[in-house]
Amino acid sequence: MNVLGPQLAVTKASENPGSWASSQSADAGEAPSIQPQGAICAKDTAEQPARKQRRPNADHTLGHIDPRRLARRLVVFTPTGAEIDMLVDRARQDIPGLGDTEVVHRVVSHNPDSFWAIARRENFNSRERRPEGFQAYLMLNHEGLRQLVAGTFKGTDPDTSLLASQHEKPAGIYIWCTHAWGALAGGMSLTLQKISTPLYRDVDVYSCASTPEGKYTLEGLGFTCGASYDGLVSDSVYKYTRAQPEAPLQPIYDNYLPDIETPQPSVTVARTMEELTRVFAVRSAVYMAEQRCPYGEEFDGNDFSATHLLGYVGQEPAACLRIRYFADFAKLERLAVRREFRGHKLARQMIRAGIEMCRMKGYTRIYGQSEKSLVDWYGQFGFRVPNEARELAFSEFGFVEILLDVDRHPDAVSIESDPYVIIRPEGRWHAAGVLEKSAARDQARPGALRQA
Ligand SMILES: CC(C)(COP(=O)(O)OP(=O)(O)OC[C@H]1O[C@@H](n2cnc3c(N)ncnc32)[C@H](O)[C@@H]1OP(=O)(O)O)[C@@H](O)C(=O)NCCC(=O)NCCS
Repeated sequence: MNVLGPQLAVTKASENPGSWASSQSADAGEAPSIQPQGAICAKDTAEQPARKQRRPNADHTLGHIDPRRLARRLVVFTPTGAEIDMLVDRARQDIPGLGDTEVVHRVVSHNPDSFWAIARRENFNSRERRPEGFQAYLMLNHEGLRQLVAGTFKGTDPDTSLLASQHEKPAGIYIWCTHAWGALAGGMSLTLQKISTPLYRDVDVYSCASTPEGKYTLEGLGFTCGASYDGLVSDSVYKYTRAQPEAPLQPIYDNYLPDIETPQPSVTVARTMEELTRVFAVRSAVYMAEQRCPYGEEFDGNDFSATHLLGYVGQEPAACLRIRYFADFAKLERLAVRREFRGHKLARQMIRAGIEMCRMKGYTRIYGQSEKSLVDWYGQFGFRVPNEARELAFSEFGFVEILLDVDRHPDAVSIESDPYVIIRPEGRWHAAGVLEKSAARDQARPGALRQA
């Protein structure tokens, strides 16, 4: 890896077979400094004394970095050929001896998921994208990973027969080169999210480091030194394990566990009459009792065309949020937190859960009508007041329209999803549902027999 960015390992090609830089690549004398989030910037380092080694912060591992936070500041996208030329030329100024740009084009032509441009969100628009940094991966196939672990892989000019093509599952993902200064460094997490589609998400990520700073940073990101594959062992290749054969992670809109007493707030989709009653109890307390909203305005005829999220503190229903769905947008509304549970970021958790729920349903546009004093609060999730936003008033409060555009969730339920996934309980698409378990039973009741 030859990286100027999140996990810089300024390497000598002779030490690191995977590096794309030639033997003139930056040497350890330009050891990078590490920014608070594990970002490394060689330029900074040249002006600063080498940082004292300390134990990397486990909160900064790739799995802990919250891409939504980064996405407020950065965008990542597939660059054009000209943009690749520009980015590589610019990187060459920082990484003397960086390999031939034609090599990048060959790799990207083979698998377009290999190269991601990074830009500050404030500098980005679709007409003039202004990429500022990049992250390059090599999608290694079985033989490519074998050679990497064996130490014979030629990263300066990789043979495309060792690389998986775009719709082929790689055996390993190798961090080939990162050029991302300062604030752009978080782009690496965003690009990793891009390659967390079902095809890639359980594929382990590999890297190499030959300077103490590079090692420090890789360890801080959760990489461990040493890799084995197909009977081969390397004590210099670093590995970040993404494969998670165990139970899928609980999504944030479905992490409530009944009967388990925990102080942690949690959320569930209301799926039973009992849970709906709890939602209505929270709303009655907040809107009717506290805000003196008339019953007919609070229970407005939309409660049976919606998903209701129910937030708990321990086993106590404490918050709720209603989501309604339209053709090309979803609407978040009726956010309420019982007064005694406020100020502990429960509302924030409810909105995050709501956004994730909408993304899983395939929505990329989320609409809201914010009470005017809460517009900035909604801004923390990326909601904005669009130019054409209208103001409105009801139930004695003033509101303004807000909008959030999000990336499509890589696992969003769609018509192509497994038909059993489509019939799983709402919000529980990550776990086998009661109906697919029933499929194990014999089809003993075909329609004709039912009549008999
Ligand atoms: C708004 C509400 C959901 C916030 O719940 P919460 O769990 O306390 O929220 P969080 O802890 O995640 O965030 C609290 C932050 O929101 C701010 N906030 C809460 N109500 C606010 C209001 N009416 N105007 C401006 N800011 C407000 C708090 O000052 C606090 O700010 P801080 O993070 O800078 O300290 C809760 O106050 C509530 O239920 N209010 C009544 C119903 C309502 O107004 N719903 C929103 C309709 S658009």
